[in-house]
Amino acid sequence: MAKGHKDKVAVITGAANGLGQAFAKRLAEEGVHIAIADIGAADATVKLVQQAGRDAFVSKCDVSSPDSVAAMAADVQKHFGRADILINCAGIFPQQSFDDMTYADWKRLLGINLDSVFLCSSAFVPGMKKRGWGRIVSMSSSTVGSVVTGFVHYVSSKAGIIGFTRALASELGPHGITVNAIAPGLTKTPGAMSRAPRPGFATMDDEFESVAQFQAIKRAEVPDDLAGTISYLTSDDAAFITGQTLNVDGGRVRS
Ligand SMILES: NC(=O)c1ccc[n+]([C@@H]2O[C@H](COP(=O)([O-])OP(=O)(O)OC[C@H]3O[C@@H](n4cnc5c(N)ncnc54)[C@H](O)[C@@H]3O)[C@@H](O)[C@H]2O)c1
Repeated sequence: MAKGHKDKVAVITGAANGLGQAFAKRLAEEGVHIAIADIGAADATVKLVQQAGRDAFVSKCDVSSPDSVAAMAADVQKHFGRADILINCAGIFPQQSFDDMTYADWKRLLGINLDSVFLCSSAFVPGMKKRGWGRIVSMSSSTVGSVVTGFVHYVSSKAGIIGFTRALASELGPHGITVNAIAPGLTKTPGAMSRAPRPGFATMDDEFESVAQFQAIKRAEVPDDLAGTISYLTSDDAAFITGQTLNVDGGRVRS
């Protein structure tokens, strides 16, 4: 069990599926109660958290909406009375060439992937400051360090998360709050498996196979490959690590 997790409360956005669900399961197994903030149905995640013997609370939330995030934060406060850990995981990754990208597409993606990180952090930092302890971890992406096409808005949002993480860490260090990010590689989640493969690949399985060949570890990444990093970064053991973005991608991107 990671140091300092027992009876903490974590808010995980996008925890109904994929990486967020894997993080909810892992943290619950380590003694953390979980608030799930997602627009989708979260029954499967609730079951996993309850199987681990922890409290699972769901607040339906559109993380790009200030009103919806404010309502979710009020729900969490009412139910748990606190939030010690915030994991900003909700995100979308529609593939779209720059020629086809409209300002509305850009705004929508930045709203869900980046504005959400500002809104959720703003909602929970005051309580963390009051208690003198907090952990914020947001999901960046290895695409920031890769040659990829069709993702100008997405890569911009994920690079924005790195800047946000660095800047906020500087302000919150004196308050016992760390702010970090993780940059996963292409990972087998429902979201990634259901999108169209990039040009040149017939199926998503082909794309996963090809990406793996550029990794030091030559197999497709799965959500559990990231759970240990979340556990560590949100623990007491990582109290002196802040402002960082960790590449957890099988050794593909080096930075
Ligand atoms: N899977 C990958 O290959 C990969 C790689 C790098 C980074 N990431 C990032 O990790 C995060 C999780 O990705 P995933 O693969 O688990 O995706 P996923 O599609 O499997 O799950 C994403 C979850 O976010 C929720 N969500 C979407 N829009 C929302 C909104 N407006 N408000 C609240 N919830 C919303 C969805 O309902 C879903 O439950 C994303 O930020 C993604 O960009 C994923």
